[in-house]
Amino acid sequence: MNRIAYRLVCGLGLSAALIATPALAKESAADNYRTYCVQCHGAQGNGKGINVRDMSVLPRDHTDAKEMGARSDADIFKVIKQGGVALNKSALMPAWGDILSDDEINDLVQHLRTLCKCSYGK
Ligand code: HEC
Repeated sequence: MNRIAYRLVCGLGLSAALIATPALAKESAADNYRTYCVQCHGAQGNGKGINVRDMSVLPRDHTDAKEMGARSDADIFKVIKQGGVALNKSALMPAWGDILSDDEINDLVQHLRTLCKCSYGK
């Protein structure tokens, strides 16, 4: 391949990479939940993920309206971003702030509200 053709191919490769980047930007809350949460919180969000048999503190049942309704959106956001320890809960609940953007965490808070069919105080 001559040099000009090589440059052309590289140039095209680069622009394809640039075009592809935005797809990395944001996943839907349901996708993020499936990727990062179900192994502990369960595919149905009921706290019965595949990890639980080895866990000393059980993951929250996200379908439990009574428990989840007792938490403000701000607290749920904080526990997802900074992990269980941020709210004096178990460190077995990991921090996701390095992996998920604030925007994605906000969407997850709303996703959890659909799982519990609840809001703060209800
Ligand atoms: C490695 C297992 C594990 C993974 C993965 C995990 N969690 Fe948790 N989570 C826990 C445990 C354990 C608790 C209970 C902590 C406690 O009660 O002390 C918890 C608690 C929570 C709580 C409730 C805190 C409260 O106020 O009771 C929320 C909300 C939560 N997790 C959201 C998530 C979300 C969203 C994800 C995915 C981004 C996720 N968790 C992934 C283990 C996990």
